[in-house]
Amino acid sequence: MAASGQQPNYHIGHKEETLKAFELRNAGTCLGYLLPTLEALPPDFSLLDIGCGPGSITFDLARRFPKARIVGVDLGDEVIERNRANIAHFAPDSNIEFRSGNLLHPEAFLSPEELGSFDVVHEHTTLICIPDSVAGLHALMRVAKQDGGIVACREADVASQVIWPPVPESAELQERIYAMNGLDTQMGRKLLSKALDAGFRRDQVTASASVLSNITAPHRELYAGSMIAMLADENSDYRKAAAKFGYTEEQVDVLRRNMEKLIAADDGWRLCICTEIICRLGP
Ligand SMILES: C[S@@+](CC[C@H](N)C(=O)[O-])C[C@H]1O[C@@H](n2cnc3c(N)ncnc32)[C@H](O)[C@@H]1O
Repeated sequence: MAASGQQPNYHIGHKEETLKAFELRNAGTCLGYLLPTLEALPPDFSLLDIGCGPGSITFDLARRFPKARIVGVDLGDEVIERNRANIAHFAPDSNIEFRSGNLLHPEAFLSPEELGSFDVVHEHTTLICIPDSVAGLHALMRVAKQDGGIVACREADVASQVIWPPVPESAELQERIYAMNGLDTQMGRKLLSKALDAGFRRDQVTASASVLSNITAPHRELYAGSMIAMLADENSDYRKAAAKFGYTEEQVDVLRRNMEKLIAADDGWRLCICTEIICRLGP
């Protein structure tokens, strides 16, 4: 487990195929639990989206709330450059910006005036990438407005993932990769408990759950295609883990064929439970 304030790497990486798969996400498909709360705020609210990745959720928020000040932050410089280049295309008439930064060091990407000033601090499947997720939640709490600010999180419970046709070998390697990086595939089910560990009171938190899915053929292809691309890359964490755990070429081939099976299966799908919390700061 990494100490607070440190984070070794991002285990999935920002390959183009992965970014394309994440781009399926938007506020409509992922933030059903949060949209009514945002709609009730004054239209010029400020929102920080931490671990925004390719920014499809962030851009959608900027389009839906054009008067709001939206700031997307991610560890990866390249993905932030990519997002900046996409602003003119995805959210031209909005108040959006992107910055590089590590959630665990907010003072490095926020000015002293901005720290503790955001009306809403949001993350979508970012805490699951941080070994010390309680430190991550604590940092989210610090950057939100202390009196009346909102911290909103949606986290995947990767251990609950259902894929049909069955792909047990792929699930096993995934579990090992998370463990190798000090991460927890059960982050989703522990989200509320970690929020309480980080210092939120139970009466400040509203909890809910929903499912992240890849069901249609194009959506299965984007998900499975991103896994196939990682398997083809000798430098990806997937290949490094396979090498570390002594996988033979035939075993790596089984992993690839599993994903090809998912793409081809008309009766196939990938489903993953996501947990959601809305935490309101203040008395
Ligand atoms: C699973 S992706 C989710 C991306 C986006 N939120 C979405 O759902 O489409 C997690 C993202 O969090 C970023 N990330 C991981 N650790 C981070 C940290 N400590 N600070 C900021 N971003 C981080 C990664 O670089 C990655 O882009």
